[in-house]
Amino acid sequence: MTLLQQETELLPHDAIVAKETRRFYERFAVEYASSIPHNVTGAMKEWLDVFVAGIERSERVFEIGSGTGRDAAYLESLGYDVQRSEIAEPFLKSFREQGVEALRFDVLTDPFPASQRAVFANSVFCHMTARQLGRALKNVHDALEPGGRLAFNTKADEVRWGATVRNARLPGYRYFSHWPPSLIRSEVENMGFDVLWWSEKPAILRPTPWVNLVVRKRQD
Ligand SMILES: C[S@@+](CC[C@H](N)C(=O)[O-])C[C@H]1O[C@@H](n2cnc3c(N)ncnc32)[C@H](O)[C@@H]1O
Repeated sequence: MTLLQQETELLPHDAIVAKETRRFYERFAVEYASSIPHNVTGAMKEWLDVFVAGIERSERVFEIGSGTGRDAAYLESLGYDVQRSEIAEPFLKSFREQGVEALRFDVLTDPFPASQRAVFANSVFCHMTARQLGRALKNVHDALEPGGRLAFNTKADEVRWGATVRNARLPGYRYFSHWPPSLIRSEVENMGFDVLWWSEKPAILRPTPWVNLVVRKRQD
């Protein structure tokens, strides 16, 4: 397949995935919120603690896809200043109702409003095609100062590339990509990041393998 053919065949697919992902969270934000753990514990806490270990408490953390704001609240409890962001209106509305500032921000299409020292995205890039993940990583890389950190995760799987999945806890289908861990590692390294920390652990509520990463923008 020529590059041009790939473009014309794959771009509509990316657009559908982005639209369906947003639609899922706009329709099922309430169900999603009640399906997840309400506190940061275990592997989640370990990952967040490693991420912020190299960040001064005076620094701001930019969170992509904040959802309910659970992780932002945890980081704030440690003393960090968190910029929440979302694409799904119900989550943005909930922040407004709580009197909490949050930015409407799509990591696939919006430039960051300022340069960043630390960016966090829990269970966001897992909903992206390989091409979208590359775009999101590049957007974050462009925004980070040299030495700045990104923490993100994806489902880890050795075989399947992408699938639309319905799990027992939630209505509706969501697209998930499944990244063999070695491949996600080379993807971030090729994008100009060094991998600082890496963990392959099952999800909190299900035995699905996930890979959680903390990466740093390489200093040239
Ligand atoms: C699985 S939820 C995770 C929410 C929250 N981070 C958490 O851990 O509970 C995925 C979130 O990513 C957001 N999202 C999906 N695609 C996005 C994009 N392109 N840019 C920014 N946020 C996105 C969704 O609206 C949703 O809130």
